[in-house]
Amino acid sequence: MKVIALGGSVLFGDFDTDTLKKFAEVINQYSGKLAIVVGGGRVARKYIESARSLGADEVTCDMIGIAVTRINASILAVAVENCPVMVPEDFVTAKEILERYGRVIMGGTFPGHTTDAVSALLAEFLKADELLIATSADGVYTKDPRFHRDAEKIEKLTSDELVEIVSVNSTEAGGSSVVDLLASKIIQRSRIRTRIFYGTPENLRKALNGEKIGSIVVS
Ligand code: UTP
Repeated sequence: MKVIALGGSVLFGDFDTDTLKKFAEVINQYSGKLAIVVGGGRVARKYIESARSLGADEVTCDMIGIAVTRINASILAVAVENCPVMVPEDFVTAKEILERYGRVIMGGTFPGHTTDAVSALLAEFLKADELLIATSADGVYTKDPRFHRDAEKIEKLTSDELVEIVSVNSTEAGGSSVVDLLASKIIQRSRIRTRIFYGTPENLRKALNGEKIGSIVVS
């Protein structure tokens, strides 16, 4: 079975239901078991900004972000065949739903991390064959390509190399990394085979079919 991390912006940028439908079609056509973790995207960022400007503490902001990820997960679940729309809030329930339906879609869990980390933890818990991270970057680069013109895409890397790259990118001013640091550390500790790729429905189909797109993290 595979776990998919679908960023909120990847799934439906500006409420683009057509893209969401196409992702659902790819999921519906796949015959194996799938667990999907959906992110919060732009809407979550907006809500978090509003809450913060009203004086909310960071845990409260995280809880608001989690609520948005769960709504996004529910909307995808509406379009996926034979999948409960009430999304699970913990991994044990997610596993039960997966066993029963062959599909489970969830959002965030606890404050303090992002859905990247949730997807890595879920892959670890479910002993998934592979974690597929559909994101807004087309793979892992040697350096942050937005700041370094000599950055090169790495097609195959180890989880130790992933942690090293993510650690450097996360500390750079204004930097953000292709996956978050906690997620990369979970991938490292359990040596989860992980493919990171630009999130379109067609690319998800390719990744599910084992085609070589983006970057692959092995052992
Ligand atoms: P995302 O996972 O969407 O964060 O969760 P992100 O990486 O900023 O979003 P993308 O990849 O660009 O779409 C949205 C927010 O919800 C909270 C965090 O505040 C996060 O930034 N969150 C989410 C949690 O606190 N815990 C979770 O398990 C998930």
